[in-house]
Amino acid sequence: MASSIKISPSILSSNFSKLGEEIKALEKAGADYIHVDVMDGHFVPNLTIGPDVIKQIRPFSDKIFDVHLMISPVDKYIEQFANAGADIITFHPEATKNTAETIKLIRKFKKKVGISLKPKSEISLIRDYLDKIDLVLIMSVEPGFGGQKFMPEVLPKLKELKKIIEKEKYNVDLEIDGGINFQNSKSAKEAGANILVSGSTIFKENSGDLKKNIDLLRKS
Ligand code: DX5
Ligand code: ZN
Repeated sequence: MASSIKISPSILSSNFSKLGEEIKALEKAGADYIHVDVMDGHFVPNLTIGPDVIKQIRPFSDKIFDVHLMISPVDKYIEQFANAGADIITFHPEATKNTAETIKLIRKFKKKVGISLKPKSEISLIRDYLDKIDLVLIMSVEPGFGGQKFMPEVLPKLKELKKIIEKEKYNVDLEIDGGINFQNSKSAKEAGANILVSGSTIFKENSGDLKKNIDLLRKS
């Protein structure tokens, strides 16, 4: 039976000087999604890429662009990311004055909607929107940088969300993001994640053998 686990490599750990080739290599290595971390140096203390870069890397792969917006304010940029080729647009509820409005805005551009919870953010922040979105991104590190240590204290929150989604029969994916490696991926899946984001493990382990690392994360 095909594994229902999806792997979404984060390009934050890739070589930005050859982003297009890196994305092509990820697709060839079996990535299900491409996780694009957008940071504005305001919502998080780091700066990465914007919609123009996404537009330029879009032609390098047909894979789903799983765009994680760590920016605030967020509403005024949704259209640009949608037009640049994002397929899933995930935002942080702390980055908007009105979560329902941001969801509607992403829907207006016919994109899938994700909401992200930082490690200390509670389910109550998003409970009322679970019937309106496609994905919850559970951060297992404080957003801002790759290569941080996994925070297992987020697993009970993931289990709780899984229980709610199953009970209410919501059609919502659970994505975990931050510090995922071969040692903790099993507990992340057992807690309910069906999409694993990984940057440093995929790009750095086994001398950067992307296919081996993606396969290992999917199977471990
Ligand atoms: C952190 C980002 C994560 C991060 C994952 O703010 O949202 O996607 O790049 O990278 P690793 O797997 O190295 O923690
Ligand atoms: Zn991310």
